[in-house]
Amino acid sequence: MGERLAVVSGGGTGIGAAVALGLAKDGCDVLVVGRRADVLLATAQRLDAECGRAGAVRAVSADLTDPEQLDRVVEAVAGRPVDVVVNNAGGYLGGDPSTLAGTAAHWRANLDANVLTAVLLTEALLPALRRPGGRVILVSSIAAQRGGGGAYSAAKAALHGWAYDLAGQLGPEQITVNVVSPGYVAETEFFGDRMTPEGHAKRVAATLVGRAGVPDDIAAAVRYLASPAAGYVTGQVLGVNGGSVLGR
Ligand SMILES: NC(=O)c1ccc[n+]([C@@H]2O[C@H](COP(=O)([O-])OP(=O)(O)OC[C@H]3O[C@@H](n4cnc5c(N)ncnc54)[C@H](OP(=O)(O)O)[C@@H]3O)[C@@H](O)[C@H]2O)c1
Repeated sequence: MGERLAVVSGGGTGIGAAVALGLAKDGCDVLVVGRRADVLLATAQRLDAECGRAGAVRAVSADLTDPEQLDRVVEAVAGRPVDVVVNNAGGYLGGDPSTLAGTAAHWRANLDANVLTAVLLTEALLPALRRPGGRVILVSSIAAQRGGGGAYSAAKAALHGWAYDLAGQLGPEQITVNVVSPGYVAETEFFGDRMTPEGHAKRVAATLVGRAGVPDDIAAAVRYLASPAAGYVTGQVLGVNGGSVLGR
């Protein structure tokens, strides 16, 4: 059994899978949570093999926007203290803003996917968080800091304000709460068929380092914030964006 237990939402793909592997390498047992059971299972098996510890990564399928499905995660935790919660599930949800009903549906979908998933998972696991020493990490977006994504930007920005409150609430119990805000990260399902060569080039050109991010760039920041070494860092937003946005 690993020394610590981590729960990573959206751990079946992209950034979440890289975070799960990194935390498993750091000695955590990891529960990866997402909606697609087949994707999660395949990832859990791959990460198990890559981290060299059989059974280190387990899959739990749940739609984290549905309060009734959170029981599945709590059951999988099985009474063990939870050391790290990484709220990474989310994404840009399109919609038809040509009517008010369409606008409402589009905003609700983005708020559900990016805010409610994090709030419900964190609330469900709050009683189980290790005290002292627990870590809550929220994955927002550069879009929260500079706009560009409409309802998605607003939803990710909401995570920042909530993180500050949660950091205040949990600080006295020596639990830290921080936000990692990625810039453009290729090699994930995030953009689906929305990405074009021009869009890619524009995003790379906006960085100071002249390249796209990869999931491991974000995982490295999460691994630091999840580590015992980061106990004096709380209520912060850490931009990992190649310099596309400075110092915010
Ligand atoms: N890639 C980028 O450039 C970029 C930039 C800034 C921020 N981000 C953020 O980084 C995070 C990870 O994105 P990614 O780039 O790795 O894209 P991704 O591959 O699409 O990952 C998103 C993950 O979230 C899961 N998910 C979505 N809705 C869920 C729900 N209701 N319940 C449970 N799981 C859910 C998805 O799994 P299922 O579909 O199986 O549920 C998927 O594994 C997202 O929050 C995204 O907004 C990405």
